[in-house]
Amino acid sequence: MVLVLEKLYSGKAKDVITLDDEKVKIVFRNSISAFDGVKVDELKGKGEANCKISKLLFEILNHYGIETHYLKQESKNELICKKVEIIPVESVCRNITAGSFCRRYGVEKGVPFKKPIVELFYKNDELHDPLVTEEVAIRLGWINEKENIIIKAVTLAVNYILVEVFKKIGLILVDFKLEFGRTTDGKLILADEISADTMRLWEENSGEIKDKDRYRKDLGSVVDHYNDIAFRLEQIKELPKIELKTKVRVTIDLKSSVLDPAGDITFRSLLRLGYKQVSKVNIGKSIVISFTSVPGSKLWDVTETISNEILANPLIETYSIDFSFE
Ligand code: TMP
Ligand code: ASP
Repeated sequence: MVLVLEKLYSGKAKDVITLDDEKVKIVFRNSISAFDGVKVDELKGKGEANCKISKLLFEILNHYGIETHYLKQESKNELICKKVEIIPVESVCRNITAGSFCRRYGVEKGVPFKKPIVELFYKNDELHDPLVTEEVAIRLGWINEKENIIIKAVTLAVNYILVEVFKKIGLILVDFKLEFGRTTDGKLILADEISADTMRLWEENSGEIKDKDRYRKDLGSVVDHYNDIAFRLEQIKELPKIELKTKVRVTIDLKSSVLDPAGDITFRSLLRLGYKQVSKVNIGKSIVISFTSVPGSKLWDVTETISNEILANPLIETYSIDFSFE
């Protein structure tokens, strides 16, 4: 029998080959590019270094319960991953001002944010991956409301974990980019790569750049620094103990066809008090559950089960879910 390997996709630095309905092989090449492919090169050992960093970071994230596409390492520059449909929106998390954030808003580089910032970008080289609002990403059908909530919360959770992991090996996580994909059963999981190409890392003591900015800025020794990141990650004997907390808010409303006596009483009181512009009042409830786990598709499913079976009465109520990870 001849095994036909259908090449799914060949990107600027990786090839993705379909193995079967469930799995793909990701091949990390030595190609490196910047400024949307304007600057390109081949750097010996770069594929292996990024493959190792990605593998180690996916394993670390899996350890903390983040759902990722990573299954195993196949060879020095190949990973076997779950087959997903990559969504066309990238999520960038920033702890310190740098890169396009400084250019876009005219702010100084190196200023820490009080709280990390999450931005969405539309994956489109011709348009130079423009920044998009959540509303645009949803309205243009790139992601749905649920995926938007999961992307933001998972990005913040990944940041929370990776900041601590890199701190342990003397590195500062300035910012990074994540990609998400839909599995065949519709779950949204972390996909693509998480490597020195997709993050900014600075040496804690000297501020020295360790990531792809070395290539963008012609600083040299790109692969040596990538290998050093991989080496330090491999040296971690014990992962940091991290207290994870995802707050899940379930908002419950009565279906519009159902009588709402409490809402009606409040409505009449408001009219009596002279608030003539009020036309209706509906009273629902909001329930906040704190979980000691990371956000993701699994937690969403758990919340739906709890909502359907315990929190809401599906005959008369509707509910919506929100995640916050801070
Ligand atoms: P930016 O400051 O250029 O927007 O980049 C933010 C982060 O995203 C940075 O860690 C590098 C990463 N990134 C990618 O992974 N791919 C890209 O195409 C770009 C532009 C940035
Ligand atoms: N990833 C983009 C490119 O390959 C942009 C960048 O990383 O600077 O051109």
